[in-house]
Amino acid sequence: MTMPRIMFGGDYNPEQWPEDVWAEDMKLMAEAGVSLVSVGIFAWARVEPRPGEYDFGWFDRVLDLLAEADIGASLATMTASPPPWLSRLHPEVLPRRADGVRLWPGARQHYCPSSPIYREYAGRLVEQVAARYGNHPALRLWHVGNEYGCHVRACYCDVSATDFRRWLRERYHDVEALNAAWSTAFWSQRYGDWSEVLPPRTAPTFGNPAQKLDFARFSNDAILACYTMERDILRRYTPDVPMTTNFIGLVHKPIDSFRWAAEQDVVSLDSYPDPYDPGTHVDAGFGYDLVRSARRGQPWLLMEQAPSAVNWRERNAPKPPGVMRLWSWQAVAQGADGVLFFQWRQAAGGAEKFHSAMLPHAGAHTRIHREVRDLGAEIAATAELAGTRVRAEVALLHDWPNWWAVEGEAHPAPLDLLAAHRAHYAPLFDAHVTCDVLPPDADLAGYRLVIVPNLYLLSAATAAVLREHVRRGGTLLVSYFSGVVDDTERLHPGGAPGPLRDLLGLRVEEFWPLPADGTIGLDLDGRPGRGLEWSEWVEPAGAQAIGTFTEGELAGRPAVLRHSYGAGTAWYLATRPEPALMRAVLDRVRAEAGVAPVLPGLPDGVQAVRRHGVDRSYLLLLNHGGAEVTVALPAPAVDLLGDADRPTGLVTLAPRGVAVLRS
Ligand code: GLA
Repeated sequence: MTMPRIMFGGDYNPEQWPEDVWAEDMKLMAEAGVSLVSVGIFAWARVEPRPGEYDFGWFDRVLDLLAEADIGASLATMTASPPPWLSRLHPEVLPRRADGVRLWPGARQHYCPSSPIYREYAGRLVEQVAARYGNHPALRLWHVGNEYGCHVRACYCDVSATDFRRWLRERYHDVEALNAAWSTAFWSQRYGDWSEVLPPRTAPTFGNPAQKLDFARFSNDAILACYTMERDILRRYTPDVPMTTNFIGLVHKPIDSFRWAAEQDVVSLDSYPDPYDPGTHVDAGFGYDLVRSARRGQPWLLMEQAPSAVNWRERNAPKPPGVMRLWSWQAVAQGADGVLFFQWRQAAGGAEKFHSAMLPHAGAHTRIHREVRDLGAEIAATAELAGTRVRAEVALLHDWPNWWAVEGEAHPAPLDLLAAHRAHYAPLFDAHVTCDVLPPDADLAGYRLVIVPNLYLLSAATAAVLREHVRRGGTLLVSYFSGVVDDTERLHPGGAPGPLRDLLGLRVEEFWPLPADGTIGLDLDGRPGRGLEWSEWVEPAGAQAIGTFTEGELAGRPAVLRHSYGAGTAWYLATRPEPALMRAVLDRVRAEAGVAPVLPGLPDGVQAVRRHGVDRSYLLLLNHGGAEVTVALPAPAVDLLGDADRPTGLVTLAPRGVAVLRS
């Protein structure tokens, strides 16, 4: 779907306010340039006060007011938080944790995703909403549920157990196949009957890893089934109205965004970078590149961000002046066609009353609201960006099943996959290189360089895709603890990196994880440094050592290896080089692969991304650093946020400054 312009707005919860406040909302929204609001997300208890008894009159008036003000609705299906009557009538809809504790109503999302009762009541409500509002002039987009899997990531109750067994039967057909896949010969876990199979509830010690992995797959599917149930109802009523559901930022372990994205018309993301963390915009960048890649470069929506502070971290700093603007433009630079906030009017009561909003408690004459209005005006002035796309020559592979598996227990050492991604992604970000984040089954044609951090779970099919990429002249970089198990958590025979051994030209004999906070000496082509977290005893079989360990039992053994294969090159890292050395490795790998930065000679701290239209492109420059910088452009360009009449060859960016240049 294509947006007519870059959308601007936020969550709007009019049910929290008397009706006489709504008129002021409309006036201030129009003045702030609001074009899209998410409405009705938590309205279930209000529109269906008793089972089957509906009160939509007030909501009709909200939507009519929005239509009159020419503000679009990202209209929620209202099923994110069931009303108290549902669990009073049917306590079995309440979810249970792995330890058996039941989660009670009193917050939100208190439902078992597998519950047929929840799905039935939710589906009934969606029918009502779709039938009533499917032709409403304010309707632009369906907002299905809200942040699926945010609080209840999996449910371990008896209803879920039954659904898990159904799911397993569809996957394995008979119980002997399940026994084989789950390696149940180990610890006397062999099942004689399906009825013995349970979710991985709290057990005396380490649970079965294949059972846990399948339960993570199942839980993702159970939650996805709630979404598709609603989606299918909406499609019947309004086949032409696009649909989304907002992913929790930046990457949420229980929800496989790649699989979910295929079920949506437009992908949307909620993003809450931590203002206390100086590297937070790099992590945000990773999340934005991932959601953009989830539908192969299609523009996405930043569905929620905080105008200033959140209230749900232990300590909640406001965003200093200019930061909200900078981070909003970062999302647009990385392919967003919408900048929205949680939420429009700051709540007067409830658990989020200290969460910032576009319209703060202190009113419209406030710093935050002024910044919101200024941003709204800027966004309106750059409508021509809508629909343009970001292109990348580098892809980093991320796989949800691998994430579920690689961070499992009883491993050589605990690993944090997002930290591994960050270690590989940040040097590209710092070097002004645009990167896509793809699933392992993606088509890699057109990418010069593919980066594969810690792909512990590796299927033969993925190995074949990677081999083909290199054979045809591409470059590949794989890092340690990859190619260890197949998709049932069984070891690849012959040792890691399993089906990649020939491609990488090496064999890993032993994993030598470093002590917590330990490091190991490295030499990279004469440059000394430290390796972090992990090391491995690698036996080359064709690969050449470019870097070696310099200390301990592994001194003199290869740490960084390079292997020519077909028309391309495959690299292997047997440790995680410290950031400066990782940058050096990636700079070299990139240079050999022919991957250039967006613009040569950019100052440190400046992010540069290009969005491409049919006959023109836009360069977005963002100064994340603390000092003013000047950027020389290859050709004069017009800054859409500056003096639109005067093309410029030199752009000066204040700290937190932004330029949107048409070339
Ligand atoms: C999430 C939810 C919102 C709100 C915000 C607060 O993103 O979707 O309803 O709770 O967090 O940050």
